[in-house]
Amino acid sequence: MEEIIRTENLTKKYDTMVALDNVSFVAHKKEIIGLVGDNGAGKSTLINILVGLFPPDEGKIFLDGREVRFTSPGDARKRGIEIVYQFSNLIEGMPIYKNFFMGREIINRGILDNKAMRKESEYALDEIGITKSADQLVEELSGGQRQAVSLGRAFHFGTKVLLLDEPTTGLSLKEVDRTLNRIKLIRDKANMSIIFVTHNLRHIMPIADRIMVLYHGEKVLDKETKHTNIAELTKMITARIKEEEHVDRTKYI
Ligand SMILES: Nc1ncnc2c1ncn2[C@@H]1O[C@H](COP(=O)(O)OP(=O)(O)OP(=O)(O)O)[C@@H](O)[C@H]1O
Ligand SMILES: [Mg+2]
Repeated sequence: MEEIIRTENLTKKYDTMVALDNVSFVAHKKEIIGLVGDNGAGKSTLINILVGLFPPDEGKIFLDGREVRFTSPGDARKRGIEIVYQFSNLIEGMPIYKNFFMGREIINRGILDNKAMRKESEYALDEIGITKSADQLVEELSGGQRQAVSLGRAFHFGTKVLLLDEPTTGLSLKEVDRTLNRIKLIRDKANMSIIFVTHNLRHIMPIADRIMVLYHGEKVLDKETKHTNIAELTKMITARIKEEEHVDRTKYI
């Protein structure tokens, strides 16, 4: 599998508190990685570094094998790193198509081409199974539909690394299912790496190829989903046992 993003020893401190401790990982094309950990484990800190909100104190990020240093979220976005937040990043009072093309408007002879943007956004959403009029306002959409528009946008604009911060929190059971299916569909159709932050192992286990656990800023587990289970993950999330120590211990049980 082809590598898309890689980090080496990312460290971030808030005063003396180490929020992220030497975290290295690789994400490949068409891979969904579940990023889990207790409250305060460092998940958002890691994601925020990857989207260019702030730099790490130490460590490196490589995109397509080349080292990158993001100066802002706009900079990271230009290079193909996109984030979808829990409550989606759409702006109310605006129709779907304007949100879809926010910052990437189609301009024809100096004027906004609303017709083209409507058509293209409807087409793009339809491709991932969302039939909506592009004129609908964001406030008329459910939480799941908002997520869907954000996901469709990332898909359409050729995102390389898609970061999902708790995308299923607060959704109804039906919407959770739909959102998970859409994420899978996007993974199958596009060539991106998806990093999915969640507290819900039951949401992530069925769709993640790999799971990473952070504990007090440290990566304590990084395994293919098929080689772990809810019991092991819960243990790693809640107790400071490193993967190798864990393996040693089980030898004696
Ligand atoms: N701006 C900040 N200033 C000081 N400390 C911070 C700041 N942001 C995060 N922290 C601390 O860094 C650690 C990691 O926080 P982070 O938000 O990355 O955790 P998280 O895994 O996303 O948690 P949650 O599941 O609650 O969202 C925590 O101890 C947190 O209190
Ligand atoms: Mg967080």
